[in-house]
Amino acid sequence: MTPAASAPARPWALLAELTHACPLHCGYCSNPLELTRRSRELTTAQWTDVMRQAGEFGVVHTHLSGGEPLLRRDLAQIVAAAEAAEIYTQLVTSGVGLDRARLSALAAAGLRSVQLSVQHADPRACDRIAGRRSFAEKERAAELVRAAGLPLGLNVVLHRGNLDAVDALIELGLSWGVDRIELANTQFYGWALLNRAALLPTRDQLARARDAVERRREMLTPDGPELVWVVPDYFDGVAKPCMGGWGAVSLTVTPDGTVLPCPAAATLPDLDPPNIRDHPLAWIWDHSTAFTRYRGTGWMPEPCRGCSHREADFGGCRCQAYALTGDATRTDPACRLSPDHGLIRSLADDGRDGTRVIRRRAPSRTETVG
Ligand code: SF4
Ligand code: FES
Repeated sequence: MTPAASAPARPWALLAELTHACPLHCGYCSNPLELTRRSRELTTAQWTDVMRQAGEFGVVHTHLSGGEPLLRRDLAQIVAAAEAAEIYTQLVTSGVGLDRARLSALAAAGLRSVQLSVQHADPRACDRIAGRRSFAEKERAAELVRAAGLPLGLNVVLHRGNLDAVDALIELGLSWGVDRIELANTQFYGWALLNRAALLPTRDQLARARDAVERRREMLTPDGPELVWVVPDYFDGVAKPCMGGWGAVSLTVTPDGTVLPCPAAATLPDLDPPNIRDHPLAWIWDHSTAFTRYRGTGWMPEPCRGCSHREADFGGCRCQAYALTGDATRTDPACRLSPDHGLIRSLADDGRDGTRVIRRRAPSRTETVG
């Protein structure tokens, strides 16, 4: 095994996947195909302890995510635990299930901001992509968040079914008064990987969308919302610095307490993913194989090993390298210097078809937690 890099920096960000349960059924979901059953979720006390340990360890920011975190009845208690640990909380939500009373309880517990997902600017297309009627609830959720005075971000996962609506999506964000619009091209993990052929856009579509974003950026006033375009790495020939580096700045805790360097890492072989029920967070970060395996640059093969970008993109994404080549140590095929780049090029050029999207099934609803 490759030795760990010495003295790893402390993480500052925590992705807390509170549940895999979700009222929506988006085909681009990055949750694992094997969704965690509700009966396996961490309890309120266990999440409280995660927040305490994370705060003591230097984490200052957490995304409370899922699935749909509003399905945790104890969400306000988890927010309060993060607040007590001096961790800034952002709720990542579909908006479904957010009413005035719930939002006010969350704000009272210390919630600092909300990121709301939307699937399309057209209500019917939005509902179709989400796999259930939900646009009206999202609109209402945006109104409530604005009225509560909390910062509001709009998050859109882009794919073949909505890239042509980028202009209208930006318009929607402006009309909802959001502070930030994140246009994130689909990353192919979990259900999105399964549905890749149905989700991959064409190069023309992407070029049009990118132009639209640029035009809009030029038109925005300095006090307008921040407009973020998350690049589609299948098409750019450039590997993304996934998670800011393996075990470098961020950690993920999944609904059952598994602690990972990124949400998709459980798909990699030989990582022996640790669980917060068995080990302290500090030990997991410093010593577990899951976090030390690809930390730093010592594990890198050529061409990354001798490349001047290796400290900037960390050789790209380990999960993508594994998904495409079956070997997580290889250079991410998204990089044009990778010997496997042809795999990505052929997918980007030919890898789409008209297949229908396979929708995720909900984990067991028979038992609820919190
Ligand atoms: Fe990044 Fe490796 Fe590609 Fe260099 S060869 S640009 S380090 S992925
Ligand atoms: Fe796991 Fe990129 S998603 S390293």
